[in-house]
Amino acid sequence: MGHLSNRNIIIGVSGGIAAYKAAELVRLLRREGAIVRVIMSRGALAFITPLSMQALSGNPVHTELLDEDAEMGMGHIELARWADMLILAPATADVIARLAQGRADDLLTTVALATTAPLYVAPAMNQNMWLNPATATNIATLTERGITVVGPIAGDQACGDNGPGRLLEPVEMLAAITNRLPARPLGGKRVVITAGPTREALDPVRYLSNHSSGKMGFALAGAAAEAGAEVVLITGPVALESPDHISRVDVESAQEMLAAVMDAVSSGTDIFIAAAAVADYRPISVEAQKIKKTESELSLALVRNPDILKTVANATNRPPLVIGFAAETHQVAQHANLKLVTKSLDAIVANDVSRSDIGFNSDYNAVALFTALGSEITLEGSKRVVAESLIAAFTEMLESKATNIMGTTNG
Ligand code: C5P
Repeated sequence: MGHLSNRNIIIGVSGGIAAYKAAELVRLLRREGAIVRVIMSRGALAFITPLSMQALSGNPVHTELLDEDAEMGMGHIELARWADMLILAPATADVIARLAQGRADDLLTTVALATTAPLYVAPAMNQNMWLNPATATNIATLTERGITVVGPIAGDQACGDNGPGRLLEPVEMLAAITNRLPARPLGGKRVVITAGPTREALDPVRYLSNHSSGKMGFALAGAAAEAGAEVVLITGPVALESPDHISRVDVESAQEMLAAVMDAVSSGTDIFIAAAAVADYRPISVEAQKIKKTESELSLALVRNPDILKTVANATNRPPLVIGFAAETHQVAQHANLKLVTKSLDAIVANDVSRSDIGFNSDYNAVALFTALGSEITLEGSKRVVAESLIAAFTEMLESKATNIMGTTNG
C-alpha cells in the first residue's frame, strides 16, 4: 500500500503547455494508492483531452461549474467536501491571481474556495510572468493563507526563454507533496475495532441492551485511519457518523458482531481493539411474536453470549496485538489486570465508570492502559485526544513486537 492509500485527491489543471505533466502526476498519485478526480479549466482543454485524464484517473473529469449532468453526479460543494487534498498543477498566473482574490468564476476556483482540505499550487508560466511583482504578490498572499506553493524551477521554457517558471517534474511534485504530509505510522496496517452496544432481541419489538454510545470506538477508528491504517469498524446500533476513510459494518447482536469480527480478522489483521460494550447474556430464545403482558411475574431465561475478545485472542490467526477495554466501578487496576491475563490480551484500557463526568455517554475520558509487559500509562482528555494517544501507544507496541520477532528469528 502506498503513501497516499485511500486519500481523496483533486488535481486541478489549468491551461498551459505543462498540462501534459498533470497526466503523469495523476498516474503517480494512483500508484501511491490515492483516489484521484480531475477538474480541468476551460484553458486546460486546449492542451489535453478530458478523455486522457478520465482514463488515467479512472473517474469522470469535471469541467463546468454549471453543468447539470456533472452537478447531479458530484456537485462542486460535494467535490470540495470529498477532497482530502487539492493540487493545482499546472497553476497559471491567471489562476493564481484569481485564487489570491478569492474569486469563484469557474469550477476550479470555486472548489478551491469551498474546500477546507490542504491546497497545493504548482505554478507554471513564462519567466517574466513569474517574476512580475503582481505574481510575486499573489504568491505571497497564497503562502500567507497557508497554501503550499511547490516550484517552479528554472530551465528552458516552451516559449524559448530560459529562467524560472517551469512546472516541477511529476516525481518532484509527488515528493514535495508526500514530504509535507503528516507521518502515517500505521500505513499498510489493518485495524479491526468493535464499538457501541449490542442488542439482544426478546421478541420482534423488544431487546436487552446498554448505554454505550460508541464514541470511544469511533474515536479510535478515526485516529487509526488518520495514522494511515486500513480500518474496519464493527459497530452495534449508535447515533454516530462514521469517521472518514474507514469501512463500517453495522450489527445488532453479540452473535452478529462475533461473525462480522471473525470475517474481518480472517484476512489478516495487525491490531484488534474491542471497545464494544457487548451484552454478556441474551434471551435463551427469541419469541416469534410480541410477548403479551399478564398479571403474573415474567421471568427471562438468559444464556451467555460468546466472548468476542477472548475468541479473537485465542484464534489460530490471532492478530499480533489484541486490546481490550474494561469498564470498572472499583479496584480498577486489579480487575483490569485480571482480565488482561484471563482473556490473553496484549493490553487493556481501563476506565472508572463510577465517575459521572467520564465514560459511556461523555465526550471526555480518563483511562489507564495496562500492558502484558507490566507497564501502565494514564491518559485524560477528549475521547479523540485519548484515542490518538492510545493509537500512538499501540503503534509503538506493534513496532516493538515486530522488532522482537525479527530478533528471535535472526538470533
Ligand atoms: O469481561 P468484560 O465484559 O468486562 O470485558 C470487557 C472487554 O471484553 C471489552 O473489551 C469488550 O469489548 C470485550 N467483550 C467482548 N465480548 C463479550 C464481552 C466483552 O468482546 N461478550
